[in-house]
Amino acid sequence: MFKRVSGVKDILPKEIPFWQRVSEVARQVFARYSYQEIRPPLLEEAALFNRSLGQSSEVIQKQMFTIRHHEDLYALRPEGTASVVRAYLENGLDKSRRFAKFFYMGPMFRAERPQKGRLRQFHHIGAEAIGSDDPGLDVELISLADTLLTQFEIHGYSIKINTLGCAKDKEKLCSNLHNSLNDTLEGLCDDCKVRFNQNTLRILDCKREACRKTVASLKVGEAFLCEECDAHFAKVRQGLDTLGISYEVVPTLVRGLDYYTRTVFEISHPGLGAQDALGAGGRYDNLVAELGGTQTPAIGFAFGVERLLLVSGYKPQAMQSCLVYLICLGEEAKSKGIKLLSDLRKEGISCDTDYECKSLKGAMRAANDAQARFVIIFGEDEIKKDCVTLKDMSSGNQKEVALDSLLKEITC
Ligand code: HAM
Repeated sequence: MFKRVSGVKDILPKEIPFWQRVSEVARQVFARYSYQEIRPPLLEEAALFNRSLGQSSEVIQKQMFTIRHHEDLYALRPEGTASVVRAYLENGLDKSRRFAKFFYMGPMFRAERPQKGRLRQFHHIGAEAIGSDDPGLDVELISLADTLLTQFEIHGYSIKINTLGCAKDKEKLCSNLHNSLNDTLEGLCDDCKVRFNQNTLRILDCKREACRKTVASLKVGEAFLCEECDAHFAKVRQGLDTLGISYEVVPTLVRGLDYYTRTVFEISHPGLGAQDALGAGGRYDNLVAELGGTQTPAIGFAFGVERLLLVSGYKPQAMQSCLVYLICLGEEAKSKGIKLLSDLRKEGISCDTDYECKSLKGAMRAANDAQARFVIIFGEDEIKKDCVTLKDMSSGNQKEVALDSLLKEITC
């Protein structure tokens, strides 16, 4: 027997109502905020992500699923932002509307070591707003993320925000950090020793106790910010205060992807354990230009849907119910029953039957499992009289109903 690949999941019928609800609610909320759906492909040129996420990011270093096909190197997308920006530029959406807002839902792939909340195929619900650096837009995105969680009926999360400043500020932060860590390198974990040379900022959000202590002693403040970025961040905080959105400023919050500048944020939930981020995002003011467009500021975020499921309190559902369950007794009823089933379905009635039906008792059990409102019993007697026996499962009442008034009887 084949088994699924480690770190991927089958989404079984009992979980589907959660997925449907989350996507329906998300669509309604995105419409309220005027975000339009976009569906980029799952397969992209690997170079798109190398260029966008940064060679030294963990996703590129260790987690990309790449596929070599002849001379070309493709990747199963590890995230959606780079694809959305590529699609925005390639399809000339920047020409028709410089300011554009998109949302997407779908699978992402990262070759991570699987654990609770960390999968190799997982799903994002994400939003990207391209074309403005107004701090009001940062507030809109964080408010959008907050509204989505409220509408998903998820509680107990916390929003952390920070600013990395513009590209110059970020460089300054990086070199300040490099200088101050030079003397305390021995206290860092092995991963951070590697990060020190390749991706210094990531040391700031290492979860290991020793690294946290070292970082705490460094007092990473806002001193690296230029006046403009400082004011920008102040306006973001002000806007969040105006909307009454609770947040915490965490100066050590940096994100793992290179494209971020200025505002970054993360939404975490204590119910998730070690992988506690429900979602995350931030500004990427230079990415559109990096990928060949004009200088166009942008911001976005994405939620991990499997992590939403973990904290949602959702209980797997029993089988989907149907209105009518047809029980055919005997060969003639079976062959005529096919037409009856088809006629009811044409009328928009959800109905089912058990083709393997051997006994009335077994079929009634199946009808019960299907949570049918009505059971139709169709046998030799009924065929002779041109009727069916209709049982109302909620009252237990049973009566003969002529075939031509059946529809009226079950829809009234
Ligand atoms: P990210 O932080 O890499 O950001 O992923 C966003 C969310 O996806 C995480 O907070 C987490 O909930 C979920 N996630 C990530 N990796 C996994 C995994 N291996 N298994 C399960 N869930 C996972 C991005 O991808 C950015 N593109 C977000 C963004 C959009 N920034 C700007 N625009």
